[in-house]
Amino acid sequence: MAAQILDGKALSAEIKAKVAKRTAELNKQGIDVCLGVIMVGDDPASQIYVRNKQNACDKVGFCSRTVILDKGTSQEDLEKAIEGMNEDDAIHGILVQLPLPPQLDEKKALALIRPEKDVDGFHVVNAGMLFTGQKQVVPCTPKGIMAMLKHTGIDLNGKEAVVIGRSDIVGKPIAMLLLEQNCTVTICHSHTAQLREHTRRADILVSAVGKPGFVTADMVMPGAVVIDVGITRVDGKVVGDVAFDEVKEVASWITPVPGGVGPMTIAMLMENTLEAAERLEC
Ligand code: GUN
Repeated sequence: MAAQILDGKALSAEIKAKVAKRTAELNKQGIDVCLGVIMVGDDPASQIYVRNKQNACDKVGFCSRTVILDKGTSQEDLEKAIEGMNEDDAIHGILVQLPLPPQLDEKKALALIRPEKDVDGFHVVNAGMLFTGQKQVVPCTPKGIMAMLKHTGIDLNGKEAVVIGRSDIVGKPIAMLLLEQNCTVTICHSHTAQLREHTRRADILVSAVGKPGFVTADMVMPGAVVIDVGITRVDGKVVGDVAFDEVKEVASWITPVPGGVGPMTIAMLMENTLEAAERLEC
């Protein structure tokens, strides 16, 4: 039987509707929730992501302020832009769109964002809180994945979870969240030997690689839940890491691309921004 589809579009709409309702309550108290976005350069993918985030802000009733810096911007100017948003009481959440051009020190820039306003959850303090079981701000993509897994109704306790990819943004934090739910977690990466031996054991398989068609049916255990975090543009079309047509015949649940993890990431950014506003204002 073909897998059930984990519809990120529908689920994200429900989450955004709840955010909009809570935002309207804050508005009644005279609080306008505001997300500050900093983008450096004119990378076409980043431009699309930033536009999608601004549109989502409009839909849930946030205001958004976007600062676009030139591709050749210095570290000092980037840091000034971050400091400006840190000090601006009208801005509740700050997001620096990644990746940054190579002359800029990404880690140093992210560490400058006030942790309370770090709606991406990338600041070392927020990462450390997550890794020590005291989570405050959870990165948006992993948070969205956990919401999708919850939606399946599957009890995660004791399950084998395999994550392909070890980025700070997705691989490491999703591994921590799955561990927190008592999964046995394996993180695979580009140096992993016998990758298929690992993935074939997974009840939950998360792929965050960025290579179209990387996960094939022979790598998936029958009945597994397959979460595709990949977003790659091929001939103008957005495609994931998972060979969807063949894997859906093996998996029990599968996320499509587009319409899976992507919309959930944005919904969680809205939720994190609202929570930042509530923390700072209430
Ligand atoms: N670039 C790709 N994904 C993300 C994300 O979740 N947050 C930010 N700030 N940049 C990204």
